Amino acid sequence: MTILRQSFLLTSLLSIALASYAAPDPQKTATTPAPAAATANTVTATAEPIIDYRERFIPVVARHGMVVGPEQLAAEVGTQMLRQGGNAVDAAVATGFALAVTYPRAGNLGGGGFMLIHLADDDRQTLIDYRESAPAAATRDMFLNAQGELDQQREYFSLQSAGVPGTVGGLLYALDKYGTLSREQVLAPAIELAKKGFPVSFALSFEIAASAERLRQNPAAKQLFFKADGTAYEIGDTWRQPDLAWTLGQISERGADGFYRGEVAQRISAEMAAGEGLITAQDLADYRVVERQPVRGTYRGFEVVSTPPPSSGGIHILQILNVLEGYDLQAMGHNSAEYLHHLTESMKLAYADRSLYLADPDFVDVPVAKLIDKGYATRQRARIDSKQATPSVDIAPGRPLGNESTETTHYSVADRFGNVVSNTYTLNFSFGSHIAVPGTGMLLNNEMADFAASPGNANAFGLVQGEANKIEPGKRPLSSMSPTIVMRDGKPWLATGSPGGSVIITTVLQMALNAMEFDMNVSTAAAEPRIHHQWMPDVLRMEEGFSPDTVRLLQAMGQPVEIAGRTSGRTNSIMLEDGWLYGASDTRRPGGWVAGY
Ligand code: GLY
Repeated sequence: MTILRQSFLLTSLLSIALASYAAPDPQKTATTPAPAAATANTVTATAEPIIDYRERFIPVVARHGMVVGPEQLAAEVGTQMLRQGGNAVDAAVATGFALAVTYPRAGNLGGGGFMLIHLADDDRQTLIDYRESAPAAATRDMFLNAQGELDQQREYFSLQSAGVPGTVGGLLYALDKYGTLSREQVLAPAIELAKKGFPVSFALSFEIAASAERLRQNPAAKQLFFKADGTAYEIGDTWRQPDLAWTLGQISERGADGFYRGEVAQRISAEMAAGEGLITAQDLADYRVVERQPVRGTYRGFEVVSTPPPSSGGIHILQILNVLEGYDLQAMGHNSAEYLHHLTESMKLAYADRSLYLADPDFVDVPVAKLIDKGYATRQRARIDSKQATPSVDIAPGRPLGNESTETTHYSVADRFGNVVSNTYTLNFSFGSHIAVPGTGMLLNNEMADFAASPGNANAFGLVQGEANKIEPGKRPLSSMSPTIVMRDGKPWLATGSPGGSVIITTVLQMALNAMEFDMNVSTAAAEPRIHHQWMPDVLRMEEGFSPDTVRLLQAMGQPVEIAGRTSGRTNSIMLEDGWLYGASDTRRPGGWVAGY
């Protein structure tokens, strides 16, 4: 944060921001001892947080702990763990399980994701890959019909759409290895929310209504999301999920075995066997979480730590930053046509690489070091014409990337010990395959659609992918999920991430750039309009909010502008400065929440 922003303290505004959050329960914090090892790292704060009164978007401020996520109840469950003495991992795991109850469009037990953790005591970051994997019976052409054409219904909305779920394994792995609370403690709030129910919010009612037609087609999903008479729950109605409470109870009692073996696994495999699903009891028992090294790079003195393959996100964020580092972006001006042109051209180069090289690193040799090398960026930068857009077809042979969902969800967590978690997980589409497993209260993902079902052809979102991401048994589909932590002076400074499929990468990129390069506070960085270009299709998608003059200048440079009828991503971020936590939940969607204390 610059001296400019530091010089504008607004204590009264701070009081308002703090007042909107429940005061810490002194009894709880006093009587629950913090984990001994973590206490040594407890961050000391400057006297006052920094709020710049001239900014139009002001973050929420907290001192001890914070969870920023897509839904209020689950974010509060996370801070409840922090108040009980838990660390950021405990809070992240509890939030993840709670979102499976309160945010069913993307929160999940039946999906997968990536958790990036900064461990204060060890002063290191680690990445937990709990991405779904293809069942043993999966085959390269399983979604092609007899004519060799893609059967999109089967790819997106059938039992075959589902990869072996990783979420339960991933959350429990994180808890066992890096958490401090018991499994029963972190699962208790989710079980209670499912059992006792909670009032349906506007956001939840809206989201279910948007997917109602397809959810009603699956009997178990219909039973889960609608009243006994088939009508929708109204805003304010209490929604109970007894089957989901039972599943969560199995996990609480038996750990990963409660999901991957035993009765829950039996219900999943029975449903698969009764239809044309591929996941067997053996696939579930064989599922493995993988702990990986994050990818990391530098940008003008910041260190950017992000998600490695099987996500493409971290690599491409670093690639684009490497190219942009060679330009004087501040001289161009934030969101000027010149800036957006260079951003666009850098995005195109990275996404062209995505189609060729990126896939599950346990199956394909992904040249990570070469792709994020600064020398490679210098050569790529030389290909950019500063005055004229280069058509995508001239960048690389046409291999558009596949169809990626705009759903998924992200939340960020910080605790008073200096630990930070950035977690993105998903069912792929909103409500995944829209198929629930009877007796579990749980939706199945449709993550198999993130493979190149028809290598060489564009998927529904226009992304072209090559053979590297073809379907193979046990393989993880290529993702764009990009939970990211930006480090400043060796300490976590910004935790961020977003839903949005291929848009995740450009969303997180612009969030980080706005903060690092343009010194925006976390709320302003989230609010600024964003662009997206993914090389193929050759379209520059711009959110509403750019000046018509800027748009005209971009068009004059040959940029194929399309003013998107939709927004780009939805960040949930925390900035950590001088011992204070600044949170911002993107205003692009309803229901987001910053819970801090
Ligand atoms: N399914 C969205 C992603 O993995 O990026």
